[in-house]
Formats: sequence, structure tokens, C-alpha cells
Amino acid sequence: MLHDAAVLVEGGRIRAVGSYADLRDDHAGAVVEEVRGVLFPGFVDCHTHAVFGGPRLEDHERRALGEDYKTIAARGGGILQSVRDVRARSERELVELTRARVRALLAHGTTTIEVKSGYGLDPATELKQLRVVRDLSSTERPALVPTFLGAHEVPPEFRDRRADYVQLLCDDMIPTVARDKLAVACDVFCEPGVFDVAETRTILTAARRHGLALKLHADELDGCGGAELAVRLNALSADHLAGVSDAGIRALAGSETLAVLLPATMVFLGKRQHAPARRMVEAGAAVALATDFNPGSSPTVSLPLAMAFGVSQLGLRHGEVVTAVTVNAAAALGLAQDRGQIAPGFRADLVTHGVSDWREVAYWMGENLVTAVWTGGSACPLPTAPVSLGPHVEA
Ligand code: NIG
Ligand code: FE
Repeated sequence: MLHDAAVLVEGGRIRAVGSYADLRDDHAGAVVEEVRGVLFPGFVDCHTHAVFGGPRLEDHERRALGEDYKTIAARGGGILQSVRDVRARSERELVELTRARVRALLAHGTTTIEVKSGYGLDPATELKQLRVVRDLSSTERPALVPTFLGAHEVPPEFRDRRADYVQLLCDDMIPTVARDKLAVACDVFCEPGVFDVAETRTILTAARRHGLALKLHADELDGCGGAELAVRLNALSADHLAGVSDAGIRALAGSETLAVLLPATMVFLGKRQHAPARRMVEAGAAVALATDFNPGSSPTVSLPLAMAFGVSQLGLRHGEVVTAVTVNAAAALGLAQDRGQIAPGFRADLVTHGVSDWREVAYWMGENLVTAVWTGGSACPLPTAPVSLGPHVEA
């Protein structure tokens, strides 16, 4: 922790970090931008489903009446409702909806965003979602990291022949996505009642053959060995983990696979059960935090909120939640050498929070205290009015 610090940026990268007085003396010609508050590395949101249509308010109401996530899904709500929605919307509309969300994420201090497909579940719509991410990469300031999640659910048209869907994923969708460089990673929702461990292994093995990195929604609600599989496959990350077993914790601790925890999801779903974060950290696992931003289980764009839950719900320390959205979140995307640290050679992605003690970033629950954001060393315009996250309504 430095006071009166300065960061020297050149060509979009950090060249030096030190006291303002020292850097000023050594680099008299440099342009100075003064900031107040606490400077952090730009946050990395390593798990979002930001390409979707509308909110899922019926699910929300049904949950308030006591139905749980899986029951709602089995009765036609859940992921398949968002699938019907995304299939029906035009690519152009999805681009505009997602653009607003990317800007809202940036306004909360996030400079790198992983974005998954998974609300298409057919070749045309999955590719449509990934093209939305590609198009926005060229116009929006945060770096977008696309992940193929065609194995988010079995689509209704394959209900009675799920093996055929797994084959479609392996023989058609994954090769196309990899060939067209529309994603850098492949994810599977590995969960009892969705994709089992054997199906997940088949899908991710195909993905690896085509050069994609691997991620898993693992042991989100009821554990089934997802974390162990993630480690065996040398996946970048195993995400969720509220239902992880002791063996899963041991496997993660002895591996390079990041444990990505998503406490906002469990809070939104009204669950008391949380990932055993403390036990993971004590065992030696590397823990990252993300928003899981999506319309069904986590409609938040705020990593600071996820950090506040990291402290209050998961028992993480303030320093651990900062590491979890910077260094470790970058590692969960295979980008640990490039971003997530204010250190020479790293991308000059930076954010200031208008606080006087750095721990306040995980304290003022639900307030956005971001005062400035830079990507590649240049300041980003921030929204001056609240950004609407859903489809527009006529006034
Ligand atoms: O990470 N678990 C699967 N996927 C999302 C939920 C997606 C949805 O409900 O639309 C998650 O929680
Ligand atoms: Fe998710």
C-alpha cells in the first residue's frame, strides 16, 4: 500500500510505480493526471452471462413464493425462458442491450469482462451471441473475453435424445466456434439434472482438442464431483462450488485451477448455503470472485457488491477479496501475466474509488464509489446517468 503514489504509463502499459516525488524527478516530461481516493488495478469480472434479453421477473416472484431455482426451471422458467427470449431477438438488439451492460460493468470499475454464450443452445443462436461479444469488443473500452457455453442446458428439442445434443456440441458447435475464433474458452454446467460428469468430460475433451481453454460451472447447488473433474482436466477454473466436497477442495488446493466463487448468486437465489471459501483458502486453493451477472440468478454488475458478500457471506478478508477480483480473476482467464496488478509490464487498466481506506471498497454495500477508470492507460468516459440494463420501455 503506497501513499502519494504515482504510476508511469507508456504505450498502454505500466512502466514504473513509486512515490510521486521520485517518479516526478525521474520523468519530468510526463503528462500528469492527478487522482484522489484509492487506486486499484482495473477489476476483472471472470464470470458473466451478459448477452441476454429481458429480466426474469416471473422466476423472481415464484422464488419469493417459495419455489426453488430447479423447480422453476423444471416448470418452464429458468434458463430455457432466456433461451426462448434470445432466440427471438435480433443480433442488433442484443448488441445494444449488451453494450449498455458492458458500460454499466465498466462504471463499477471492471475493465476485463468474461462473457459466456449459453442462451442459444442451437448453432445459429450460440454463434449470434458470440458475434455480439466480438462486435462489442471493437467498440467498447473493457476487454471482453468470450466463452462458449453451449452446454448450459439441454435444449427442449433434444430433451429425449440428449446424447445427440452432446454430439452436436462436440462435432459441430465447438469446431465452428474454435475455427472462427469466436471464443477462447468452453464452459459446461456440470450439475445433477443438467450435464453429468461423463457428458462434461466428453464436451470439454472435444473443446481442448480444438484449442479452447476449459471452465466449469461445478458443484453449484448439489455437488457431483465437478471440482475434481475440473482439476483432472486442468481447467482454468471451477466456478460456484457451493456444493463442493472435501475431496474437491483438496483437489483444487493441489492444482492451478482457480476456485471462482459467486456469492451474489446464492444471495439472489435466497440460499443459505455458500461455497466454503475459508476452508478453500486455508487448504491452499486460489480463490477468485465474480458477479455471475445474468438474468436468472445474479442480476448485478457490481464486483464491489460481490466483494462485500465475499467478506460478509464467505468469511474472506478484505485483502483476499481484492486479490480475488484482480490477480486471481485474471488467472481464471489465463491472463495473470498481463493484467490485475499495478506493476511494471502490466496493462495500464486502473480504477479509483472515492474512499479514504482501501477496505471501504468492500464495505459500502450497493453504492458505486468509482470515480475514474482507465483502460490501456487512457481515461474512459463514465455514464452520467443510470444505465438501463433491460430492454427499453416506451415512455
Ligand atoms: O451461473 N448455473 C447456470 N448458469 C447461471 C444461471 C443462468 C440462468 O439462470 O439464466 C449461473 O447461476
Ligand atoms: Fe454462471
